Amino acid sequence: MAKQRTVFICQQCGTESPKWMGRCPNCSEWNSLVETVVATTGRGPEAKIIEPVLLQKLSQIKSACIQRVQTNVKEFDRVLGGGIVPGSIILIAGEPGIGKSTLMLQIANKLSSVFYASGEESSQQIKLRAIRLGIKGENITLLANTDVDAIISQIRQVATVAVIDSIQTLTTADLAGMAGSVGQVKECAARLQALAKSSGLPIFLIGHVTKEGAIAGPKVLEHIVDTVIYFEGDRYGSARLCRATKNRFGATDEVGVFQMTDRGLMEVENPSELFLQTSGKSKEPGRAIVCTLEGTRPILAEIQALVVPTQLAIPRRIGQGIDYNRLQVITAILSKSLRLPLAGFDIYVNVVGGLRIDEPAADLAVALAIYSSFKNLPLPPKTVVFGELGLLGEIRQVSQAAKRMKEARRLGFSTVISSERFSSLSQVVKTLTL
Ligand code: TYD
Ligand code: MG
Repeated sequence: MAKQRTVFICQQCGTESPKWMGRCPNCSEWNSLVETVVATTGRGPEAKIIEPVLLQKLSQIKSACIQRVQTNVKEFDRVLGGGIVPGSIILIAGEPGIGKSTLMLQIANKLSSVFYASGEESSQQIKLRAIRLGIKGENITLLANTDVDAIISQIRQVATVAVIDSIQTLTTADLAGMAGSVGQVKECAARLQALAKSSGLPIFLIGHVTKEGAIAGPKVLEHIVDTVIYFEGDRYGSARLCRATKNRFGATDEVGVFQMTDRGLMEVENPSELFLQTSGKSKEPGRAIVCTLEGTRPILAEIQALVVPTQLAIPRRIGQGIDYNRLQVITAILSKSLRLPLAGFDIYVNVVGGLRIDEPAADLAVALAIYSSFKNLPLPPKTVVFGELGLLGEIRQVSQAAKRMKEARRLGFSTVISSERFSSLSQVVKTLTL
């Protein structure tokens, strides 16, 4: 029987040490030693049994038809790639308070039998949430416990889907580290993964990320799990987005959109209507409506810019919902190709409704919002803008332009500023006499 041993392994070079050290003696990296179990006893829940190894040619392996379990929450199934794959481990990551527990409880309500292990909240607290959501929970078995081995032995008896809320609260008595330490998080996840693979039980792990990307958080789990879904949004707004950043069983570009209400999360089938809610028909300068593509869906969103004279030697560039570096580049392009003296101005850009746009197709809309604020002139009414900006001020084509235009028309926008009509930023400004 193998004897259990815990050692400290350097995450950079793999050096083993029997005790913790602040600096790896081999590669000199600071703080890289992590407590790890290197062998388990025969008594442990996931004891290793050495079986004869079967070697097979890839061509001989029969393809199995995956039977996905539908959650019947369309927005969530879409992100998963059509439903839950048996035996998969799915990480639901997000900032504290964003609504991960709410989402999982609502999904659990739609499934036939769910095991919900909560290390964060007591059974009473979960009951209160369930009442608020109108969930009876006949199909949900609760266990308020943080010992991963106890959870594993209980899961085996009851469920067809398991939810762990959250992985950072779990511990195993085999490790000395605190809950949430890298060693504990990795070991607990590995034990749950072994269970999922051997039994075919899908397991959802909830994981907290902080704005800085968390030390013992989902980042260390990303390679262990099959699917990573980020649940994001502006905590103070109502829109919530589910985005897969890794998916072994589906595409990673699909997005599920929800709205947080006083009765929990509601699915949003027409996200444009949610993100344009605030815009109305007002004609203030500094506003541009963009049509961005999230996965296969076009979404209309409002980009606002505020350009004001600066008091600082290095002017501010602040972007919410868009990449800071991209904002810098767009500002540089505007300065050069339209000869705007932006060095003397602070620039603030915000995507309304808590949406985050990574697509370069938003470049032109950001540029025109900034231009409009700088000149104090509104863009023409009922106008949608999309296009990537080149460094020389040229407007580049973006994918699926027809789909974007169709969505814009559906929502009553008659003018489209894109590469179909304009070749450069200066041409847009001249033609529209802005
Ligand atoms: P929660 O699911 O507890 O977040 P997480 O598990 O990600 O930490 O949700 C917390 C927030 O959601 C809390 O601020 C209250 C809000 N909320 C609603 O607005 N409506 C609801 O029906 C529920 C259950 C929560
Ligand atoms: Mg929670």
